[in-house]
Order: sequence, then C-alpha cells, then structure tokens
Amino acid sequence: MDKLIIRGGKPLRGVIRVSGSKNAALPILLAAPLLSSPATFRNVPKLRDIDTTVKLLDILGLSTHFENGVVKVEPARELKFEAPYELVKTMRASALCLGPLLARLCRARVALPGGCAIGARPVNLHLTALEKMGAAFNLEGGYIDGRCKRLTGARIVFDFPTVGGTENLLMAASLAKGETVLENAAREPEVVDLANFLNACGARISGQGTTVITIEGVDELHGADYAVMPDRIEAGTYLVAAAITGGELLVKNCPVDELDAVISKLREMGVTIEPTKEGAIARAGAETLGADVTTLPYPGFPTDMQAQIMTLMCLAKGSGTIKETIFENRFMHVQELVRLGAKIKVSSQTAFVRGVPELAGAPVMASDLRASASLVLAGLAAKGVTEVARVYHLDRGYEAMEVKLRGVGADIERGKE
Ligand code: EPZ
Repeated sequence: MDKLIIRGGKPLRGVIRVSGSKNAALPILLAAPLLSSPATFRNVPKLRDIDTTVKLLDILGLSTHFENGVVKVEPARELKFEAPYELVKTMRASALCLGPLLARLCRARVALPGGCAIGARPVNLHLTALEKMGAAFNLEGGYIDGRCKRLTGARIVFDFPTVGGTENLLMAASLAKGETVLENAAREPEVVDLANFLNACGARISGQGTTVITIEGVDELHGADYAVMPDRIEAGTYLVAAAITGGELLVKNCPVDELDAVISKLREMGVTIEPTKEGAIARAGAETLGADVTTLPYPGFPTDMQAQIMTLMCLAKGSGTIKETIFENRFMHVQELVRLGAKIKVSSQTAFVRGVPELAGAPVMASDLRASASLVLAGLAAKGVTEVARVYHLDRGYEAMEVKLRGVGADIERGKE
C-alpha cells in the first residue's frame, strides 16, 4: 500500500487546477444505462471511484472508453441487471444503478452496499421512494433484488434530503410513466449537474437545486456530450491548503458560487478569499481565528469539508467547535490529528478544538477519503516529517494530489508502506 511522506512548514504559492467533480461524475456516469444512444462525458477526474464506475458499466454490458478525462459510452446490446458484491463493496455509490436499471429493465439486483468508516450508509430512503413508484424489493443473500412493471410517477417526500436518494429517483423518474414530484429533495450542486445532464438527454426535470423537483417521465433518453462540473470539495481543500501553510494559491476553476458556506467560514477564520475570473485566490491571514461550524445539507456547511476545516482550526488562535450532523462517525481523523499535537476533544457529535501554536510531524493513518485529505493538510503545516499511510483512501477522491501540491512548492512524495 502507498503512503505519502510530507516535510511540512513550506508556504504553498502558485496555481492549482481543480479537476472534475467526483460526486457529480459518479451519478452522471451511472445514468448511462438509461440512454438509447452513445454519450460523451468530459472533465471526468482520474480517480479510483471513477475507474470502479466505468468497470460497473462494462459489467452491465455497456462499452466504455476512458482516456484523458473523457469517457465515451455506447449503449449495451443486452443490458444486464446485476451489480456484483465484489464491485459494490469497493464503492457504495454503485447503489445509484438501482434507479436506472429499474427504469430500463424493470429489474435490478444490486449488492447491498456495506457501511464504511464514516457510517452505516443505509439506502432505505432510496428503496421506500422507489416502492412508491411501483418497485418491489427482496433483500436476500446481501443483495437488493428489485422488480417492477413500468415505474409510475409518484409524489415522494424524503425524510431527509438524501443526495444519493434524490439522484437515484431523478434517474428512475426520468423514464417513468407520468409525473414524479420529489419533496425535501437534496439541493447539492452535484444533484443539479445530474439533472442538467439528464435534461441534455431529453429528460423533463425542473426545480433542481430547490427542495421540490418535478420530473415528467419520457419514453426514451438519447445520449449527450456533457462536461462535468468542477469539484467544489477538492477546491475547498486547496483553499484550506493555502491558509494552513501561510501561503497564497490561485485555485483555478474553483466553483465559488457553490462554496458560499465554506468561503464565508474561512473568511470568518481570517483567511482572505478573492474570487477571480479564473477561480479564487486564497491567502493566509495574519493569524487564524477559531470559529464554530455545523455541517448541514446544502447550502449549509458541507460535511465533506468538516475534516479539512478542523485541521485549519487546530492551528487557530483561540478555540472552536465542529458539530457533525450528517454522518454518525465522521471524526476518525481526530485521533490522528491529536498524534500531530492537536488539542481536540469529542463529545457525542461535537468536536471541541483548542488551537495550538504548531503541529509536529508523525506517522498517521488515513481512515476515509476526507480524513486522509485533512491529514495531508496537517502534514503540510506541521514541523518535520509526516507520513500518511493507507493513501488509497485519498486516491478515491483526489486526482494526483501530491503532484498538484508539489507544483506549488510542497515537499511531498509517494512511497511504499
Ligand atoms: C453523498 O453521499 C456523497 N457521496 C458524500 O460524499 C457526501 O458526504 C454526502 O452525499 C452528503 O453530502 C457521493 O455523492 C458519491 P446522503 P450519500 O444520502 O448520497 C443517511 C465523499 O467524501 N441516509 O445524503 O450517501 C446517511 O446514512 C462522500 O465524497 C439514510 O439514513 O449521502 C447519512 O447519514 C462521503 N438512508 C445521511 O443520510 C438513506 O437511504 C446523508 O446521506 C440515505 C441516506
């Protein structure tokens, strides 16, 4: 397994380019089984989860080609309906093929996605909503076995604005008979990107980005040539990298409009963020101030930036709190940050962070995607050498992170554990 070796203390300066969004590309690619003609997807990041998604499309019978950020997909001559466990266990977002397969084949057999480090990650809200559209599910042998006649439109009120649930239902409803209304729908920009892609394929979706989305089912969807939005979480991570190292970065293609909550919190902590026509310039303030953060569904502060902002807060003058309301176990990075000298106490779903003047490098271990990013950020700021083990977590969601960071002055290299 790979590790990253970081010699901290160097202010980062220069330009970092944001790649396409992992969390937009995954649902958009998994919509491909809905299409009756070829499609081209651009600005697709080279990530483990994307490779897994393309492999899943191959298993379902589609033919795919992924090169230089472009994925070309041809419809399957014979679309399969099963997503096998050995693939689903490596990427729980595979559950997003439920909606498309039921919509096209009236059959879907998808391994029940296991939990992951940050939580149980159930899909009950997806299944309940699809049942309202006429699907019936049997859970046996670790598989979700779904069948239906043609899905029919329904009015669905989500108990929680689930991102994946909203995406699965957008795809299912696009080819259903009649109108579907999703209430308490997720408003995340990645959901909007998926809806925009589906509309480019002939779907009739409106209200995306609000809590009520209406989908008028159509009989067929054609392909499209579509560029995925920039990754707002990768962008936010690099804004923090500039601040935590006392440097200045132009984060190119930074989707500023989709990062309001993150940018206003960073400004509250003393970071200068200047939107430009190319993206955003982030510059460390004279000192970093503590703040209070609560993670919420969009447009609130994103849970995917919680570990990163905590790392910055570890070096603040004063203290701050971080309340995690989305996932039940998303503080795995805390004990690793404490190994670097951070002062953090967790009680129930809130972390109490007391700023320290500096962190000291040490070997640490990544546990999930965003925790690993926070440990890299800590290593960039810490005095001495930090080794981050189990970097495969990072490779799921950050394209060539060490290459991008070396390009702006970081002393970071990949090694073997
Ligand atoms: C998406 O996960 C993202 N993943 C996550 O990013 C992100 O943290 C999350 O949305 C919240 O923004 C992708 O887009 C691939 P949810 P998802 O359904 O769809 C509970 C990353 O780091 N829930 O909004 O799984 C669930 O357990 C990843 O890039 C149910 O209880 O998120 C969680 O506590 C991590 N039942 C909460 O809702 C359900 O049926 C949010 O889940 C569905 C969800």
